[in-house]
Amino acid sequence: MILVTGGTGFIGSHTTVTLQQAGHDVLILDNLCNSRPEVVDAIAAITGTRPGFVEGDIRDAALLDRLFAEHPIQAVMHFAGLKAVGESTQIPLAYYDNNIHGSVTLLQAMQKAGVRTFIFSSSATVYGDPQKLPLTEDHPRSATNPYGHTKLVVEDILENLYHSESGWRIARLRYFNPAGAHPSGLIGESPQGVPNNLMPFVAQVATGQRPRLNVFGNDYDTPDGTGVRDYIHVMDLAEGHKAALDYCQSLPQALLTTNLGTGKGYSVLEMIQAYAQTSGQDIPYQITARRPGDIAACWADVTHATQTLGWTARLGLEDMCRDAWRWDQQP
Ligand SMILES: NC(=O)c1ccc[n+]([C@@H]2O[C@H](COP(=O)([O-])OP(=O)(O)OC[C@H]3O[C@@H](n4cnc5c(N)ncnc54)[C@H](O)[C@@H]3O)[C@@H](O)[C@H]2O)c1
Repeated sequence: MILVTGGTGFIGSHTTVTLQQAGHDVLILDNLCNSRPEVVDAIAAITGTRPGFVEGDIRDAALLDRLFAEHPIQAVMHFAGLKAVGESTQIPLAYYDNNIHGSVTLLQAMQKAGVRTFIFSSSATVYGDPQKLPLTEDHPRSATNPYGHTKLVVEDILENLYHSESGWRIARLRYFNPAGAHPSGLIGESPQGVPNNLMPFVAQVATGQRPRLNVFGNDYDTPDGTGVRDYIHVMDLAEGHKAALDYCQSLPQALLTTNLGTGKGYSVLEMIQAYAQTSGQDIPYQITARRPGDIAACWADVTHATQTLGWTARLGLEDMCRDAWRWDQQP
């Protein structure tokens, strides 16, 4: 059984589907601060199997002890956390508490229970402002906001833990920009409040919930002046997690650090155009000032993931837009 924290969230729910379809039992732990319990029904509808679900918090040590005692958990995939860069500058303590204290509490419970396989949601944000592209895993790390700092710290904690006792099998997966949705249209990204990422914003404009999109800056050093990112289909990302789990479980101990991206960057304007074409909707936008802290361009070198995990992203921009649009039209 795999414990999936944050399993009703965007990436955790899609990964749960992939894990179940690969034959794993899944137990989800989520406090629903950024997701809805109906996601469990949707996962059951897709896979034909209802994952276990516990509404609770990763900072609740007693609850964790109980879960590890009562279930045959072999590995943990840790998605639970807060992820909004802007918000993290306003409420940094909540970010440090949730993302760092939460991770430490979870790891302590694992250590107590003798469960030592851990797959962690890190982020390309740990590379800070890229000094060279594409980004390889040995690129220097830095953080320009509390959210990014929490990822750096947890990456370091995991490295310390790995060296402190034998038997830990740890994957630090640095995601680029997850987009798209499950092709069924039953699960997808549904942020509460104002979205932080481009694609949910584009979707809200396409579906008439917002009049227009703000494009933050068109004077970057990129082909059309707008920011370039490596968008990866969330189902590819889910497959990447399964590959990382298989890799870890095949070794007596492991500390894997790898990018999960496609190796290709698209600009904001290219994304808007692709989504408009797929959806047949107008996406009005206006160019506004650059957003503080945003970088010009960021995409992954995926050689390490391909060579180590035998995994590579298969889906492209059209798939991301098509699947996102199917989900975005749900009432
Ligand atoms: N989406 C991205 O662009 C992106 C990029 C890089 C890394 N990540 C990381 O991947 C992970 C998953 O991201 P996502 O996009 O699926 O986010 P999400 O908000 O959709 O999912 C996170 C889930 O964790 C739950 N949660 C939060 N704090 C919790 C706590 N203390 N206890 C229990 N549950 C808690 C939320 O309710 C939510 O369901 C996060 O750690 C995020 O930082 C995301």
